[in-house]
Amino acid sequence: MKVSPEILNLIPYKPGKPISETQREYGISKVYKLASNENPLGVSPKALEAVNQAVSRLNLYPDPTFYDLVGKVSELWQLPRNKITIGNGSDELFDLLIRIYCEPGEGIITTEAAFSAYPISAQAARVKTHVVPMKPGLKTDLAAMSEYLKKNREKDKIRLVFIPNPNNPTGTYVPAPEVDAFLKDWGNHDEILIIFDEAYTEFVRAKDYRPALDDMRRYSNVIVTRTMSKIFGLAGLRVGLMAGPEQAVDLINRVRKPFNVNELAQVAAVAALQDSDFIRRTIEITWQGLDYFYKELQKLGVPYVESQGNFVLFDTERDVMPVFESLLRRGVILRPVLNYGFKTHLRMSVGLPEENEAAIKALRDVFQEIPKRK
Ligand SMILES: Cc1ncc(COP(=O)(O)O)c(C=O)c1O
Repeated sequence: MKVSPEILNLIPYKPGKPISETQREYGISKVYKLASNENPLGVSPKALEAVNQAVSRLNLYPDPTFYDLVGKVSELWQLPRNKITIGNGSDELFDLLIRIYCEPGEGIITTEAAFSAYPISAQAARVKTHVVPMKPGLKTDLAAMSEYLKKNREKDKIRLVFIPNPNNPTGTYVPAPEVDAFLKDWGNHDEILIIFDEAYTEFVRAKDYRPALDDMRRYSNVIVTRTMSKIFGLAGLRVGLMAGPEQAVDLINRVRKPFNVNELAQVAAVAALQDSDFIRRTIEITWQGLDYFYKELQKLGVPYVESQGNFVLFDTERDVMPVFESLLRRGVILRPVLNYGFKTHLRMSVGLPEENEAAIKALRDVFQEIPKRK
């Protein structure tokens, strides 16, 4: 059978190493996983209760219109229902947007070291990903992206702009004035859509950050995605939220599978969105954890990138795979990010205080065992 080279050469998304696999391979029972930016507090108690009640209805198909969930998001975001839709994780929303708006041979644009789901979905749809280099400090360079679009958009048929804000794995963000300048150039431009992926927006502490929901109200070509996987603690259920122009919402609702988001996921999401106590506790533990990591990484003498997410990227200044493996032997799973071009960096998610301390202790031991690169 003939298969296109784009499909044959696809490199699948590389998730964090599972706890059970590490236990098996290294013969250890206590394993700390700080590798997938998950919520260390577990599942929101309100979401758990909602799921327990809905379990007895699993003989029925889920609501294909997401009536309750869209209603809750519409209330929270102060937007009409027809500007909101839901995906099986925000991953699915990115995939659908690319399939809907790009023909094979056309393009999307994003930053260097952007979240890897966009180029993977693009390649699967035979769409080219244009990558714009970061600024110093591993920051997204929207001014350079705007220039790139001015020069190449028509020629390369670039249809979608993906702006992860904050980005993963870098943890950096785009300050509001830079977003404003970009939107002055490209807002309301009817030949491109600008997607702000705000998976970590709730964790941001930077004063000059602004979520893009207001921009979405102001500009006809702005889309915002959020996820239930991080602060809301529902990564295993797969729910992504999207706000955008009515046409984009309508097209996604036509192309997506009617039952793309299962019933337990829908009821859990409605409950988790309202669990303000769980949200507050998650923010507190995340900020405390980040501050602890910064302090300890300084003591360890390795550079890190200040993060607006629930994780931190740091430079081990050593070949990363031996460090990663040595950490595994000590029961600590962090995340190498070689696939983003970082040969000596690791990404470490914030866990419970006990998990954070275990990770730092293991790092201290490993750094003594493996010297810095010359
Ligand atoms: C920047 C970014 N966007 C989106 C996602 C995906 O979220 P979801 O679980 O909703 O697919 C992640 C997950 O790690 C992420 O880091």
